[in-house]
Amino acid sequence: MKRREFLSSSAAVLAATATLSHWPARAFAQDQAPRVRLAMPPLLDTRATGRLSLQAQSGSQTFLGGAATTTAGFNQDYLGPTLILKNGDLAAEVNNALKVPVSAHWHGLLVPGEHDGGPHLPIAPGESWQPQMHIAQDPATVWYHSHIHERTAEQVYFGLAGVIHVTDGEDDARGLPSAYGVDDLTLVLQDRRFDDAGRMVYNPSMMDVMHGFSGNRLLVNGQAGATAVVPQGIVRLRLLNGSNSRVYTLFFDDTRPMHLVATDGGFLPAPIALDTLSLAPGERVEVLVDMSEGGAPVLMSDPAQPFGVLPFAVDAALPARITGLPDKLDGVLEDLGGTEVETREVSLDMGMGGMMMGGGGFAINGRPYDMARIDFAVTQGTVERWHIRSTMVAHPFHVHGVRFRVLSENGAAPRPENTGWKDTLLVPGEAEIIARFDQPARQETPYMFHCHILEHEDAGMMGQFTVT
Ligand code: C2O
Ligand code: CU
Ligand code: CU
Repeated sequence: MKRREFLSSSAAVLAATATLSHWPARAFAQDQAPRVRLAMPPLLDTRATGRLSLQAQSGSQTFLGGAATTTAGFNQDYLGPTLILKNGDLAAEVNNALKVPVSAHWHGLLVPGEHDGGPHLPIAPGESWQPQMHIAQDPATVWYHSHIHERTAEQVYFGLAGVIHVTDGEDDARGLPSAYGVDDLTLVLQDRRFDDAGRMVYNPSMMDVMHGFSGNRLLVNGQAGATAVVPQGIVRLRLLNGSNSRVYTLFFDDTRPMHLVATDGGFLPAPIALDTLSLAPGERVEVLVDMSEGGAPVLMSDPAQPFGVLPFAVDAALPARITGLPDKLDGVLEDLGGTEVETREVSLDMGMGGMMMGGGGFAINGRPYDMARIDFAVTQGTVERWHIRSTMVAHPFHVHGVRFRVLSENGAAPRPENTGWKDTLLVPGEAEIIARFDQPARQETPYMFHCHILEHEDAGMMGQFTVT
């Protein structure tokens, strides 16, 4: 984007932004095609081998049955396999068969900066990255995606992302569904923009950069118009918001509750029943839904301007292994309050001040991201309290290398879905978070902290820190 172009219309954009309900309201096109059964991403189970091999490659996909789109994926045309990881050593290998540098960031894995796969660890075309990793964390649904500075939005949009299950094999004892694709569904929610020919397009205008790029169709696991077929019992949904910018407020059309059992960083101590559930870009939740009454519920989003996310069909022939909700889970929420040695202010900036200085005003604490600048240094093993403030719109704030607790949101107790371990948090206004920084990150491979609206991140709403 040219600076003059930007300045000439920035006033109009600001006026629009101030009153904006965050996203341009746009109805999703209705699906005309007959519904097909939703497929899960293929599984890549690393538990027996301790090895993981991924290849970033180009692909081709006809999402809507029309013209083909040139896409990218890990080991396939679009998105990547669901990785099953357990604690212990993991010899990973990521090859890049694309013509541009990519990276493999493990969003939510608690690994040192040198294994984190951020912007300082690009894999050149034709090259391979081989981190010898060690996994040591609670079970959780995390994910992976490319993270090349100024290219993350486009690369994730066209498919360089996938889901990871960190598992300890104890879900039976927890009374949780665990049959992949049967009663344990992995659901990647992504809105994408399609042209009239049915091609997926990414051509962000200045407005799109301001608000984040949003789509006119919804894909689940890269599929449009599919139906999830589930057994007549308790079903576990692992939801990832893999969209560039859209925030979902999920609910069921027949008002059946979702029982939240896990947030970004692991299980809760007990399920929390919710009628609606907010899911911002980068966030994951695991919910249990009771399908024992049958019916054909539809997972929807946005009570104010509802659209369908995913219809369900109950198939009584499928094995309903779990028929009751667990009362308790074994998630342990450490109370870190009062142990902090440092507090920091983090202002997620977009606005006139920054714009006048050029660059569009996307910054943190007034400074746009600079790969050569370390913003601060954290002492390894210590606890810090961060006060996050959003300007203009609600920004989903993400920190690498840690899981954190939310102390407050706009001065009040956190919303129920933010009471567990988090690594990404939507901040409409302000929030206080607290974390212990156990993993190291040296100056050569620092951790990122940023807005997970990918257009904002690429435009400079990102910083980096060391942990030593
Ligand atoms: Cu999901 Cu810095 O990333
Ligand atoms: Cu991350
Ligand atoms: Cu943002």
